[in-house]
Amino acid sequence: MSSPEGETSANGVKIAVRDLIKVFGPHPAAMVPLVRDGLGKAELLELYGHVLGLGPVTMDVRAGHVHVVMGLSGCGKSTLIRHINRLIEPTAGCVLVDGTDITAFSARDLRAFRRRRASMVFQRFALHPHRTVLGNVAYGLRVQGVPRAKAEVCALGWVERVGLAGFEDRYPAQLSGGMQQRVGLARALATDADILLMDEAFSALDPLIRTDMQDVLLRLQADLKKTILFITHDLDEALRLGDRITILRDGQVIQEGTTPEIVLKPADAYVADFVRDINRARVLRVKAVMDGAINGARGPLLPLSSTLEEALTFFHEDPSGRRPVINGDGRGVVGSVGLPEILRAIERPNLDRSGTGGPEARLPPL
Ligand SMILES: Nc1ncnc2c1ncn2[C@@H]1O[C@H](COP(=O)(O)OP(=O)(O)OP(=O)(O)O)[C@@H](O)[C@H]1O
Ligand SMILES: [Mg+2]
Repeated sequence: MSSPEGETSANGVKIAVRDLIKVFGPHPAAMVPLVRDGLGKAELLELYGHVLGLGPVTMDVRAGHVHVVMGLSGCGKSTLIRHINRLIEPTAGCVLVDGTDITAFSARDLRAFRRRRASMVFQRFALHPHRTVLGNVAYGLRVQGVPRAKAEVCALGWVERVGLAGFEDRYPAQLSGGMQQRVGLARALATDADILLMDEAFSALDPLIRTDMQDVLLRLQADLKKTILFITHDLDEALRLGDRITILRDGQVIQEGTTPEIVLKPADAYVADFVRDINRARVLRVKAVMDGAINGARGPLLPLSSTLEEALTFFHEDPSGRRPVINGDGRGVVGSVGLPEILRAIERPNLDRSGTGGPEARLPPL
């Protein structure tokens, strides 16, 4: 008989969160049956004086994916990510990594896990001010016991890959925020951990620098295929980076899906409010709206991964008819798309909010 752990890793799932509950307060364990019974955050606080941090949460993060978790302040994002390297202990439930329950790790296993398998990139960089760029990036390797010379050669490679060649002898205080976060990223990558945990890692940066960092991460990820759990408040960032997105509210998962799933089929008014003001033409791609039938399609070949904004240009000269859609390597026609379905997807839906969420479900402008 195969164990649940074995099944988990065989599915390509790297991190499996199972019925995870975290309650803050004097008697957290006593609250577990109530939470399992469906008692929400507001009631738990009002009736029992405990704070529901999470739960119960079940979630899969697939190997090689960027999985984004987003939601309003206080919804439990940091609590969730900190369970993955056990900076926080669960009140109930477990976290499996590669099929092994890390909540059962001994102190020694946990140390090895943090050093070698899961690296964290922090919002406020958390660099050692007295170490140079090279010293900071090499630090994780030195902790792993790698000799200094070897650690520094490896670190130098990562300093270059994040675009900081020539800055290796500087100190953090001599660098801009964006450069400091490049160091943070290089430090996390240098340990060769296959999991990166990033809690609002780009949120302290100016918008342009932030977009730069997203590009750096996407470029590196195309090569490295790490499993990245990325927390953000920012929907544009989530849609840009995430292969999948989980939306939390009051410690619970409200929706989990790909960008088109979240944008085209928001689970409720809370999610709909998140996606209301985004530029749908820029975040949705042809793949999400095309039809598998090819019949009758004509005109220029439209790549599957084009945004709807790009697709519109294929209809400038002739708005009628359907265009053939081609797959990634440009060789096969995989379907077709017409102007009406593109326009329908771009149009902002008229949401009926009656009965869905109270004022607390309203979001500040993004
Ligand atoms: N140590 C703690 N003691 C008591 N309550 C806590 C503790 N840590 C977190 N909480 C509560 O748990 C809930 C989730 O907090 P968490 O920090 O995970 O939210 P978040 O989504 O990361 O918010 P933000 O976007 O502001 O970072 C909040 O209600 C918070 O007040
Ligand atoms: Mg947080």
